[in-house]
Amino acid sequence: MTEPINLADYEALAAERLPVMVRDYYASGALDERTLRDNLAAWRQIRLRHRVLRGVGQRSTATTLLGAPLQLPLGIAPMAFQAMAHPEGERATARAAAEAGALMVLSTMSNHPVEAVAVPGAPLWFQLYVYRDRGLTRALVQRAEAAGCQALVFTVDAPVLGTRERDRRNRFHLPEGLEMGNLIDHLRQLRPGDDDSGLAAYVHELVDPDLTWETLDWLRAHTTLPVLLKGVAHPDDAREALDRGAAGVIVSNHGGRQLDGGVPTAELLPAVAAAVGERGVVMVDGGIRRGGDILRALALGADAALVGRPALWGLAVDGQVGVTRVLDILRRELDETMALCGCRDLSEVTAALLG
Ligand SMILES: Cc1cc2nc3c(=O)[nH]c(=O)nc-3n(C[C@H](O)[C@H](O)[C@H](O)COP(=O)(O)O)c2cc1C
Repeated sequence: MTEPINLADYEALAAERLPVMVRDYYASGALDERTLRDNLAAWRQIRLRHRVLRGVGQRSTATTLLGAPLQLPLGIAPMAFQAMAHPEGERATARAAAEAGALMVLSTMSNHPVEAVAVPGAPLWFQLYVYRDRGLTRALVQRAEAAGCQALVFTVDAPVLGTRERDRRNRFHLPEGLEMGNLIDHLRQLRPGDDDSGLAAYVHELVDPDLTWETLDWLRAHTTLPVLLKGVAHPDDAREALDRGAAGVIVSNHGGRQLDGGVPTAELLPAVAAAVGERGVVMVDGGIRRGGDILRALALGADAALVGRPALWGLAVDGQVGVTRVLDILRRELDETMALCGCRDLSEVTAALLG
């Protein structure tokens, strides 16, 4: 292939470079992968009605999120084990995000520890899995705070791990030499499962499947950081989250990796955004592959979008430079879609653009 010019090109190049076990772990969804496919298809079905003669020579994609300025209404979704794509892993992803003025959300299960990922002055949020061991969970929160993270993203759509059959067949495990840098002692390691994914075995043993709304209260009592719930699908859950003091919600189905056959996120978003209103931040992820999808997300009520797998493709192809290119492609496509819709800035991206 000549120079990759869109995210699909990056996906194809990354697939050529990654070992099968890693490629499958990054790509796969749960069971029949229906939600994985539906997420992608749903954005394509949202059509836009453009406006004309609006003097769009000067445009800005800038915004603010929880008070922090961003050059783009975009962040990198939390994704585990990025050093399988490139040795610099999350460090490279975070540097590329910082350079682009985008948000970085770091997974609990990152290979590099949060202290090594934080880029001074750049927005970094920490995604939290709540372990059965609450002392350990509190220690993770304290580390994230001390490292300068500005918010916690509490993932709530994974009480158990969705079965990813490709990982099961491959007996997914961390390649030699890689571990989970935010954890201590034996918790850093991921052993191959007996007849299963090693991650499935790890989550089953250590992550708490019994979380309730009181867990959110508990978390808020143990942090000064704003808490966002990731994996919200129902407007009533969004309302409850806000009532209990969450700073916002992320409409997500984990990129189709958890409940298979769920409603795609583009379809879930409007009702959740309406339920939250001006009370908090609304974000969305799942299947965003074009800058125009970011504009669609904003028109449907989101304040910003997150992109997952495409960052891994960029990382696999060219490390930090690859992630930078992926983000730049999304920025250019968003900017072009704004111009063609008649929008000079993001305040002009509203539901009136929906076809
Ligand atoms: C390889 C991989 C690892 C992931 N790890 C996590 C994780 O550790 N925590 C989490 O909350 N979500 C995790 N997710 C879900 C993403 O945060 C996000 O919801 C999803 O990837 C968005 O969909 P997209 O990949 O289609 O953009 C992971 C997704 C992928 C693809």
